[in-house]
Amino acid sequence: MNILVTGGAGYIGSHTVVELLKNGHNTIIVDDLSNAKEEVIERIEHITGKRPYFYKIDCADKAALDAVFEKHSVDAVIHFAGYKAVGESVKKPLQYYRNNIDSTLSLVEVMEKYQCTKLVFSSSATVYGPNNPYPYKEDMPAIQSTNPYGWTKVMIERILTDYTTAHPEFSVILLRYFNPIGAHESGLLGDDPNGIPNNLMPYIGKVAAGQLDHLTIFGNDYDTPDGTCQRDYLHVVDLAIGHLKAIEYAENHTGVEAINLGTGTGISVQDLVNAFESANNLKLSYVIGPRRDGDLPAFWADATKAKNLLGWKAVHTLEDMCKSSWNFAKNFQ
Ligand code: WQD
Repeated sequence: MNILVTGGAGYIGSHTVVELLKNGHNTIIVDDLSNAKEEVIERIEHITGKRPYFYKIDCADKAALDAVFEKHSVDAVIHFAGYKAVGESVKKPLQYYRNNIDSTLSLVEVMEKYQCTKLVFSSSATVYGPNNPYPYKEDMPAIQSTNPYGWTKVMIERILTDYTTAHPEFSVILLRYFNPIGAHESGLLGDDPNGIPNNLMPYIGKVAAGQLDHLTIFGNDYDTPDGTCQRDYLHVVDLAIGHLKAIEYAENHTGVEAINLGTGTGISVQDLVNAFESANNLKLSYVIGPRRDGDLPAFWADATKAKNLLGWKAVHTLEDMCKSSWNFAKNFQ
């Protein structure tokens, strides 16, 4: 298939493009490089021996997107492009709503014009909100979030669902990710956010590399086995393979399907710190600090639907995630 990947130079997007190319698909990347680097295109080519088409454009720019569809016969789209920093979204809500929602609306309007009916959307476990019991299942209410970033995911899921009701020939797969970490085995692709990281693993990488003094573990008085929060950390390459399976599934599917991509296991912050130290044979400097506002004590996925529908299961271990994260961080930070 000819697959357009918005945000294809980013962390999850770039790993997904590698898996698509490895499996014989052609890829067209659209990315404005607002949170990604152009070198990523070279690195994808280095890994796969194939060069994806690349357009440095904002996905909300309908005319520019139209020109890409005019040039390439696009069979399907994977839509990653969007702002994704939770804390920033609280401070700049309008930017988040404008960017994430506009880009999706522009994209679907152009897809409609060119009769492209297959879409995989990058959603998040955040749509389960603070009230569902874990493990989260796809049939639980996914209608609430705790921050503007998360609300854009809830709203876009709604928009795509309503669009599909009006256009029953359309197929949308809403992939709800849990906590992606890890990096490509080559050490060439990984999570490299601008500025000081908010997410746990890139922060750990910078502490291990000596660029930040220490990690603060946000709270050890939660009602969890060791008192620190538990999350469902999954390897970004497993996540990328999930997208490959989802887009291939969409080929013969119509309607809306929400699918969790997680391992189904909760790992605590302390577990992750310990695993990183032993996988990489180093010591991390860390302190225990107060809880972070808005953090839930624990959640993880029920990953049964992904297995039944897509034949997908996360296979990388926590050790793989820790080793590959450090392999990337020590080269590129
Ligand atoms: C994980 C755990 C922190 C940093 C968020 C979004 C979600 C998704 C992924 C993506 C928590 C703890 C963290 C630190 C710490 N969004 N922590 N010290 O909050 O589970 O999920 O990112 O694009 O929608 O909500 O991920 O990596 O920030 O935190 O102790 O310096 O690590 O308290 O328990 P989170 P995270």
